[in-house]
Amino acid sequence: MSDKRSKQKSKYTLDRNIPGAFEGETVTRRRFMTGTAHTAGAIAASAFALPALGFAIGPIFKSTPHHWEVVGTEGMFTDTNYVPVVLTVAPNIGEAGKTTVYVRKFNPELDTDPYDKGTPYIAISSRCAHLGCPVRWVDAAERFICPCHGGVYDLLGRRVGGPPVRPLDRFYTRVAGESVEVGPRFSVNSELKRFSPRDPGEPLDGIGQYLYPSRPGAQKL
Ligand code: FES
Repeated sequence: MSDKRSKQKSKYTLDRNIPGAFEGETVTRRRFMTGTAHTAGAIAASAFALPALGFAIGPIFKSTPHHWEVVGTEGMFTDTNYVPVVLTVAPNIGEAGKTTVYVRKFNPELDTDPYDKGTPYIAISSRCAHLGCPVRWVDAAERFICPCHGGVYDLLGRRVGGPPVRPLDRFYTRVAGESVEVGPRFSVNSELKRFSPRDPGEPLDGIGQYLYPSRPGAQKL
């Protein structure tokens, strides 16, 4: 037992014959400087990483209240043509917080997809699913046309030409009394199956729906 104790290393650097050691010193200066440099590096890295992390995951914990807005009365809309209405998607920032939505009544002859069943109105976003330029409804051609890169969508907002990767997004609708209300946005794939809102350029067919999950906070716009 006493032999074992004698083999134990002393905690003092001087006893361990470390060059340049001072009496009473238990940590070598090299180790102390290395530890200090690592600590300073960790603090500097956290100063960059923590704000970025908070910015990235913060919206997950922020609940976005569902916003419904009256866009007109029932008599304003038909089931054969779209009426553009302006929706405020981000209040208090003026024109930048508004978007145009094309609205028409549900038409059982046109809206035969099972996903549309029960919806009183069809509300189609004017934001192009390619890069987000505003599309325009051209009544004579019965097409939504994007002026930026030639994206073309049919009467139901499905892509029929150009680079967009999915149909135009839609909004939930409801009727309250005589008023027509437009609610949260959702995205659709080429079969008009509904998905939580995606950003422009994110496909929803096949594997795309898994590769591009909905961004937290993408409820609006
Ligand atoms: S933004 Fe519409 S086609 Fe490119």
